[in-house]
Amino acid sequence: LPDLNTKFLGKNYIYFEEVNSTNLYAKSKDFPDGTVIFAEYQTQGKGRKGRSWISSKYKGLYFSIVLKPDIEVVNLSKFSLLFPYSVFKTLKSFTTTDLKIKWPNDLYLNSKKLAGFLMESSIENNIITKLIVGIGINVNQDIQDFPDDINQVATSLKLEEGKEFSRKEIFLKILSNIEKDYLNFLKDKYLDIKNIEKNLLWLGENVSIYEDGEVIASGILKGLNGDGSLILSHNGTEEIIYVGDLSLRG
Ligand code: ATP
Ligand code: BTN
Repeated sequence: LPDLNTKFLGKNYIYFEEVNSTNLYAKSKDFPDGTVIFAEYQTQGKGRKGRSWISSKYKGLYFSIVLKPDIEVVNLSKFSLLFPYSVFKTLKSFTTTDLKIKWPNDLYLNSKKLAGFLMESSIENNIITKLIVGIGINVNQDIQDFPDDINQVATSLKLEEGKEFSRKEIFLKILSNIEKDYLNFLKDKYLDIKNIEKNLLWLGENVSIYEDGEVIASGILKGLNGDGSLILSHNGTEEIIYVGDLSLRG
């Protein structure tokens, strides 16, 4: 990948014009630490819980990062915030509009979904031995590039800013920032939760938490605990929600 200025991330770089899913490919072999797999188009892009992620050829960024952190499993929930937060900070420098972090791991621009993250981990003896971080970002899509069922809820940088972006420039900055944030995290296990909290979608608003289509908690979104769990307040009592197969809705 020319012009990449990282120490290890993306040194092993695999590029596809088309692949089923970069996450599926990342899981198909034992790739070295820091491998980045990029696709211009995915025929079976994956969201969470078997949902699908739509890609538009040459218009978005669809990639997976293979990492071998070898740290304790207690850090997993922080990891799930670290990557969205890193991409959030990078995309902030490309947009003046309202970019927010939807707990635990989506990015919203002007109340519509701009980016999604699919993290898959391998754990052995309480150690995270492998982490596959799949990232999908809508960059230069026009409204007709999104299928009817998502064009009310999805957006792209171009749709909100009214101009084309250089996908390569954004991609290179994302990789170098992710490397920096990831290496720092490995050193001190520190994540700036306070700043993530400030930029949460629906902070101070009424939200519900869904599990398998059912509401399991509702209340005012108060913020985040140090471990990345979510604080809801309902009739004066606080409820703590841990990262899991849950969906947050406004
Ligand atoms: P949650 O994380 O709260 O469950 P979600 O409803 O957005 O959020 P996910 O499984 O995280 O669900 O993401 C997949 C969903 O994202 C799909 O069901 C679809 O609605 C939406 N989606 C698919 N492709 C795109 C895209 N390119 N841009 C924005 N949204 C998309
Ligand atoms: C979500 O919002 O549920 C997560 C979407 C993740 C999409 C990315 S695109 C690159 C990588 N490959 C996949 O199949 N999914 C992730």
